[in-house]
Amino acid sequence: MSVETTVTTESTFSAERYFATQPPPPSLEQDVLHVRQFVQRHAKAGRKVVLVTSGGTTVPLELNVVRFLDNFSAGTRGATSAEYFLKADYAVIFMHRQFSLQPFSRHYSHSTHPFLDFLEIEKVEPEQGSSGDGASPPYNITVTPSERPQLLEVLTAYKAVHKEGTLHTLTFVTVNDYLWLLRAVSHELAILGRNALYYLAAAVSDFFLPRQRMSEHKIQSGKGSLHIEMDEVPKILKPLAKEWTRGEAFIVSFKLETDPTLLIPKSQVALARYGHQVVIGNDLHHRKFQVVLVSPRNKQVDGDTAQPTSEGDSKYRVSWIRIDLAKDPKKEIEEDIVGELVRRHRRWIDSSEA
Ligand code: PMT
Repeated sequence: MSVETTVTTESTFSAERYFATQPPPPSLEQDVLHVRQFVQRHAKAGRKVVLVTSGGTTVPLELNVVRFLDNFSAGTRGATSAEYFLKADYAVIFMHRQFSLQPFSRHYSHSTHPFLDFLEIEKVEPEQGSSGDGASPPYNITVTPSERPQLLEVLTAYKAVHKEGTLHTLTFVTVNDYLWLLRAVSHELAILGRNALYYLAAAVSDFFLPRQRMSEHKIQSGKGSLHIEMDEVPKILKPLAKEWTRGEAFIVSFKLETDPTLLIPKSQVALARYGHQVVIGNDLHHRKFQVVLVSPRNKQVDGDTAQPTSEGDSKYRVSWIRIDLAKDPKKEIEEDIVGELVRRHRRWIDSSEA
């Protein structure tokens, strides 16, 4: 089946027009205040800060929302990567879709590894001669022995991050929340210059329904088929790269495709169009063990490791990251992605100092 899509220029919002006509989320001011405090504290400490976006945005069809369109993403990529950035001593702003996976708690997702399944109830025998104080219950809750090593590791990292205050969490639901938050956070991160990294793993809606055209109440059925004309969401990467971050921050975006042959060409088009630093191409079915990093060639950032490639346009550097899950089932590809980006970000910072 082929699907025909048409986009008219009247329905293409510029970022400026978008923000002039669509209202900010009610919690924006509070959210920004907390981000400002977080960024200023870490800027003072000389720490690099990464904004990780994660999960899918929604597009509500009604003002009193009953129905909405959603974008695919469980939040695994973002939540996992955030942990590796924390390990690499970055302060992390984790901007995620409400109820999608989060760093640390992701290891105990209710659907894949439910927490309650490895807790055990142990009856405590009262000590001889003691009548008990009546306050504590005669039970202990313990962790199944086979689960203890992993829990200890996750809990230790989680407590350390809490103690150091290096993780700040923000939530969005709609594409409107996402756009307003991204712009506001980028203004706060601007004080870091090159020390800011953007890791845009969220799956962002391409079309939306402007508030002015939304039905107030639930759209009623019984009148035949439903036709909705949506406007195009402004491509936010361009103002982000050029204006909001003044070309200083290191910006990494993602490209999700279902046809793997499109990954490199589409990533190159995104780089040429938006002028940022890296696009990570991933295809839906192989994304957990294979991704491709595409970036404009830049000797200062690539270092001497950049090999010429026969893939795609030679103006771009193309590097694949692959892991073998059959050999090492516990390995997470995000460890290698983040490791590579941390090295490139370091060189990006050094290249301005040189
Ligand atoms: O969470 P998981 O289940 O692990 O899945 C992870 C993932 C597959 C969703 C993730 O790895 C991924 O590929 N995310 C990007 C999905 C995608 O292709 O999004 P996009 O085509 O909507 O956007 C591409 C890039 O442009 C993104 O970095 C986005 O932040 C940016 N964008 C998109 C729309 C828009 N209006 N402005 C933007 O700047």
